[in-house]
Amino acid sequence: MKKKTILITGANGEIGHTLLEVLSSQGHSVVAIDLNPMSDVHEALCEEVILGNILDEDVIRSAEKYDVDEIYHLAALLSTSAERNPEQGHRVNVEGTLNFLQLAYRMGKRTKNSVKFLFPSTIAVYGIPSLADKLDIGKVSEDDCLMPMTMYGVNKLYNEHLGRYYSELYKRLSPELETGFIDFRGVRFPGLISAFTVPTGGTSDFAPEMIHKAAQHQPYNCFVRADSQIPFMAMPDGVRALMELAAAPSDSLTRRIYNIGAFAPTALEFSHLVQAAFPNAVINFVPDEKRQGIIDSWPSDVDDSAARQDWGWFPEYDLKRTFDEYLLPNITNRYA
Ligand code: SER
Repeated sequence: MKKKTILITGANGEIGHTLLEVLSSQGHSVVAIDLNPMSDVHEALCEEVILGNILDEDVIRSAEKYDVDEIYHLAALLSTSAERNPEQGHRVNVEGTLNFLQLAYRMGKRTKNSVKFLFPSTIAVYGIPSLADKLDIGKVSEDDCLMPMTMYGVNKLYNEHLGRYYSELYKRLSPELETGFIDFRGVRFPGLISAFTVPTGGTSDFAPEMIHKAAQHQPYNCFVRADSQIPFMAMPDGVRALMELAAAPSDSLTRRIYNIGAFAPTALEFSHLVQAAFPNAVINFVPDEKRQGIIDSWPSDVDDSAARQDWGWFPEYDLKRTFDEYLLPNITNRYA
C-alpha cells in the first residue's frame, strides 16, 4: 500500500484518536491539528502536531508545507455546544471548513493532485417536524427531510454543499481549469459510541454517557425520554467507514454524501444493556425539554443502501457485539 501523508483536524477528539491509531498503524504519515495538546502516546504517532484553532491563519500556514493526499476534517462544535453559542458554531463549523477546503484546493493545485477531503457529516442535517412524523417516516434516505433544526445541522448541511462546490464548480468562470483539485466525500454519522473517550457537547451523548457513568459506578440522569430513538454506531465502524469511503474508486460513487447505519435502539433498550452489564447501574430518565426536541427532530434510523451498494458499506458491530466485544472489555479496563 502506498504510504500517504494525511492531515487530521480535530485529531485529539473522539473520532480523531481512533483514526490516528489506525492510519499510523498502516504506516501513513499523519499531521494532526487540535486546540488541545495530545497525550504523549498519540503525539508519538504523528509526524507533527500543530496546536491551535482551525480559524487561525498560522495554523493553516503550518499545515500548508505538507503535500497532503487526504484531509480528514473532524474539528467541529457539536450540536448542543453550537446551539448554546450559534455564532461560534457557525465560525468553527463553516468558516473552519471553508479554510480547509481552500487549503486542500491550494495543495491539490500545487501538487497537481486531487486531495481527498473526508468529511464527517451527521444525522443532524435531517429535521423532522414532529414525533408523529418521525414514527411515520422511519428510515430516512439522503435526500429526505433536509430541514435541520440546529445550528450544527445547518452548518453541516451547508458544508456538504461547500464540499461539492469546491470539488466541481470552484472558480468555474476563471480562464484556467480550477476543478479537480479536491475530491470531497462524506458520511452522515449516527451517534458514535467510543469506549475510550466521552464526547463533549453532542446531543447523542446520552448513550455514551450512560455507559461510561455506569462503568464508573456513578448514577446517570439521562436527558432524553426512554422511548427516544436515533441511530448509533461503534467507533471502530465509524472510522472504518470514513477510510473505506476514502479508498473507494471514484467511478463507483454515485454521490458525495452517504448515510451509514448500524443499530438504532431506544434509550430504554440501551439502558437495559447497560444494566445487564453493570447490575448496580442507576439510570433515571430526566428529559431536558430542549435537548429532547433536538433528538425528536432526528430520524429514528437511516437508509444506508447507497453506501452498501456503491462502496460495500457494512457495519461489523451490531448492538450486541458493540457491548460484548468493544465497550465492555475496554471500558471496564479503562476504569479498573
Ligand atoms: N453526535 C452528534 C451530536 O450529538 C450528532 O452528529 O451533536
